[in-house]
This record gives sequence, C-alpha cells and structure tokens, in this order.
Amino acid sequence: MLKVPSHIAVLTSGGDAPGMNAAIRAVVRSAVYYGKRVSGVYNGYEGLIDATFEELDSRSVKYILNHGGTFLKSARSQRFRTTEGRKQAYENLVKAGIDALIVIGGDGSFTGAKIFSEEFDFQVIGVPGTIDNDLYGTDFTIGFDTATNTAIECIDKIRDTASSHDRLFLVEVMGRDSGFIALRSAIAAGALEVIMPENSITYDQLYQSIERAGQNKKFSNIIVVAEGNKLGNIFEISDHLKAKFPHLDIKVTILGHLQRGGSPTVFDRVLASKLGVAAVEGLLIGRNKVMAGVMHNQVIYTPFEEAITRRAYINPELIRINKILTI
Ligand code: F6P
Repeated sequence: MLKVPSHIAVLTSGGDAPGMNAAIRAVVRSAVYYGKRVSGVYNGYEGLIDATFEELDSRSVKYILNHGGTFLKSARSQRFRTTEGRKQAYENLVKAGIDALIVIGGDGSFTGAKIFSEEFDFQVIGVPGTIDNDLYGTDFTIGFDTATNTAIECIDKIRDTASSHDRLFLVEVMGRDSGFIALRSAIAAGALEVIMPENSITYDQLYQSIERAGQNKKFSNIIVVAEGNKLGNIFEISDHLKAKFPHLDIKVTILGHLQRGGSPTVFDRVLASKLGVAAVEGLLIGRNKVMAGVMHNQVIYTPFEEAITRRAYINPELIRINKILTI
C-alpha cells in the first residue's frame, strides 16, 4: 500500500549552483500547499548526521528566489560515506518524525542518496542542482544556464582585450568530468576551439586550428578549456602552444568559482520551480530512489541508478557547428 509522507526534509549537497534557493522555495511551498510538514537540513548530509534541522513554512523561503548560493548551505560529506554516519542520519530523521527526503545536488549526492535509501528503506527523491549539467535524465540541471551566462560575460570581456592586442587566450571553465559548460560557452562566445573531457582533441589538431586561423587573418583567438579535459592542465597546454608558436602572445585566464555564483537566470528559476514541485508531487505518488528531471519540456523521473551511471549526452552537432562558425 502507498505510504504517503507527512513530513519532508530538504537539503542541498555538493557544489552549490545558482537556482538551488529557488528549488528549496519550490519544495517548501509545494509541501505546504499539499498540507505536509517540511524541514530544511543545514549543511547537506552533514546536517542529517548532526540533526541541524529547522521546520520551515511558506514565509521562511521568501525573497530567496533571486539569490545565488543556497541558504541551507552545502557540503561534501565524508561522514555520510560511512555506514555509521548514515545510521546516525537515519536515526535523527526518525526521531524528528521525518519520513521522506529531497536531495538537491549532483551525481555524488545522488550516489549517497541511493545508498541511504536502499539501506534504510527511506523514501528519497533527487533534484538535479549542479552547474556541470552532467546528469542523465534531464536536459538541463539547475545552475547550468546561469553558469554559462556568467562564463560568456567574462569571455566577452576577454575578447575585447584579446582583439586589442591580437592575443590568444586560453580560458578555463568549470567541469570536472564534463564539457557542457565549455562547449556551450565556446559556441556562445565564438571560441576557436573547445577542449573538454568528451573530445579527444590532439595537439596536432590544435596546431592546425591555430594555423588556419592565422591564414584566415584571425589574429585574436579564444580557446575554451574545461578543467577536466584529457589534454592536460591549462598551463601545460599554454606551454605547448608557446613552444609551437613563439611569435604568438598567449595568455591564460581561469574563471573558477565565479561561475558558481550570481543571481539565477530566468531559465534556472523556472527550472528549479518546476523540479521542486515535481519532487514533492513525486513523493506524494510514491516515487522513490529517482531524480526528477525535465526532458523535451516534460517532467520525468529517472532511477538514481541510471542518473548516476549513464552519461549525459554532449551533442556532437554543436562541435560541428562550432567548427563551421569559427572559420
Ligand atoms: O561539480 C560542480 C563543480 O563546480 C565542478 O565543475 C568543479 O570541478 C567542482 O565543483 C569544484 O568543487 P569545489 O568547489 O569543491 O572546489
């Protein structure tokens, strides 16, 4: 028989992402709408273990929709990787009368959620919140759109100075295991090349691309480099290029955590609102061990197992388009 939860906890986990606050707001307000109790857990899974819970109402989440970061704070918990840590978390939840959990985070967070849910037969739903966009089961993750908009705002500025001095800039964007931010910002900013974990670009191909740019009288160029690319560290790449093209003025810029902050875009606010509601409604109809996502504009629920093991799809068409447009 379907056991409908009466008290839902929500937490944010892993790297923060703009739009997480909007997702928390959506969870809290929809839980209240459906007559459920709802508690916020501070500091991600650490807060489950330390029982830092606070009961929230619809007014607790006012004026947070437009703020980056997460007011519940986030953490990458080592203790939750241990059986003792998870046991403590379970006991704390039971003691507080909480019978379902919503985890807003990325693949690492859902791996923990899956293990926990299986171990203690606890109902858990995930909401994809990561700037990396690297989760299977959703076209977009919360924070990706804001992060890419931030990245191109910065790259546009770099372009101004690059073109004034005819320089080649290597710009590193985030993406530990994936190149979604790199590819999208490369296309949006007109970058000559994109180096990311999913493409196995070689130095020879890079050299050819730079030579072709020179032949086509493209004197200022930008190459976007995902931090998790396979070619190497951005400074090593820069050293290789400097050795090959000693006449070029080559600079390196690392955008880093700039990409994680800032007010979420309209897209991220709407996505977060949709998915927060979908998570609560999913719990109410008995969904468990799944991630709520949006594919082709439809809400879908994907088992954690698939969301974390299957690879999100980088569209090769975008790589092809970039090649054509940067001639
Ligand atoms: O997972 C999101 C992400 O921003 C990655 O792109 C990046 O590699 C990582 O988090 C950085 O994590 P931290 O803030 O813990 O250094």
